[in-house]
Amino acid sequence: MRAAVLYQANTPMQIEEVTLDGPRADEVLVRVGATGACHSDYHVIDGSWNGPRYPLPAILGHEAAGTVEKVGADVRGLEKGDRVILSFAPSCGRCRMCTIGQPHLCNGFGSRTPGTFVDGTRRHRKGDLELACFGGGMSSFAELSCVHHSCAIKINPEMPMTGAALIGCAVMTGVGAVLNTARVEPGATVAVFATGGVGLSVVQGAVLANASKVIAVDLLDNKLAHARNLGATHTINNRDGEAVAEIRELTDGQGVDYAFDAIGNPRVSRACYDAVRRGGTAVIVGMAPTGAEISIPATIPGEEKTVKGCFYGSTRPVVDFPRLVDFYMNGRLKLDQMVTKTYKLAEINEAFAALGRGDNARGLIEPNGS
Ligand SMILES: NC(=O)c1ccc[n+]([C@@H]2O[C@H](COP(=O)([O-])OP(=O)(O)OC[C@H]3O[C@@H](n4cnc5c(N)ncnc54)[C@H](O)[C@@H]3O)[C@@H](O)[C@H]2O)c1
Ligand SMILES: [Zn+2]
Ligand SMILES: [Zn+2]
Repeated sequence: MRAAVLYQANTPMQIEEVTLDGPRADEVLVRVGATGACHSDYHVIDGSWNGPRYPLPAILGHEAAGTVEKVGADVRGLEKGDRVILSFAPSCGRCRMCTIGQPHLCNGFGSRTPGTFVDGTRRHRKGDLELACFGGGMSSFAELSCVHHSCAIKINPEMPMTGAALIGCAVMTGVGAVLNTARVEPGATVAVFATGGVGLSVVQGAVLANASKVIAVDLLDNKLAHARNLGATHTINNRDGEAVAEIRELTDGQGVDYAFDAIGNPRVSRACYDAVRRGGTAVIVGMAPTGAEISIPATIPGEEKTVKGCFYGSTRPVVDFPRLVDFYMNGRLKLDQMVTKTYKLAEINEAFAALGRGDNARGLIEPNGS
């Protein structure tokens, strides 16, 4: 099959013929319909995530939807032709985390070797060269993706591939940050720092939660225009660094109930902390460069603020993916407006250059498109 291989950070991905050994008994092989250019891939591409956790060469890609091509012998409930959204968080279904309802934090596969499938193997090859995988094994910047059965979630076959792919990462993460991680209540005030794919989904989550104010902050006016279209009540371009003061002004000097960092920059995380009212909650969704730390004032006891991490919108994919599909089908989740541009596999480096410049709400790659 054809796949985009990243040999080294800060070099273009190469489109190569590679082999993929799978599916094994507990796996599913999926033909990728659409896959998003997410900033988490970009962190590896631009070298800001480096070290042993992100081995190269690798096939990246972790936001995807597709059609089941083949199921392993032990897989139940899926068959060839099913439309699926892929999850990048494999879950064993038996460990303590899975059992208490936090399968996204599953630790049932033991300490996994980075860049491998859940069974610890690497099964993509370019000739004799073994390639690492990404996104819990999915490596969706390829015509085919082989995933653990827990990572292929069957959805309504009428759901368009592009919107389905977005649910696989940005939308699940952003909407889930609001509904699952923070549990924003109706009438609450919300600020979102950074309105890329994830932040625009936080905006949409806040609308679904009936927040009374949804204040979007970015550095690019085109992103803020998307935020407004998707339901932000106020937008702030933070090029002059005054966002926290402006958020206070918009909330009677108090600060918002919830602020979300959707870029993963320690200064932005700190701004979220500063932008919430006493007793408010700052949710850190964006992922910072390797080794970064966030500093917060030691006055936190008197402020009684909460700082919360959010991984993958605290998803339970089997529950949440079909629910987000329904929200889209019923016109309450605007996914078509988020797909600014689609690219062929051969154009993947262009998709990421556009992400770096902030051109698109979301760019999507169609690896099987001609
Ligand atoms: N927690 C998770 O499970 C999870 C899942 C997916 C992505 N992420 C992370 O979320 C972050 C965002 O991903 P994305 O795909 O939405 O990115 P994106 O590239 O689509 O958007 C990033 C946005 O941030 C804006 N921005 C950059 N610096 C800013 C600043 N200082 N202040 C305000 N806005 C700023 C850009 O203009 C852009 O609009 C990344 O760090 C990514 O790794 C986390
Ligand atoms: Zn992602
Ligand atoms: Zn588990």
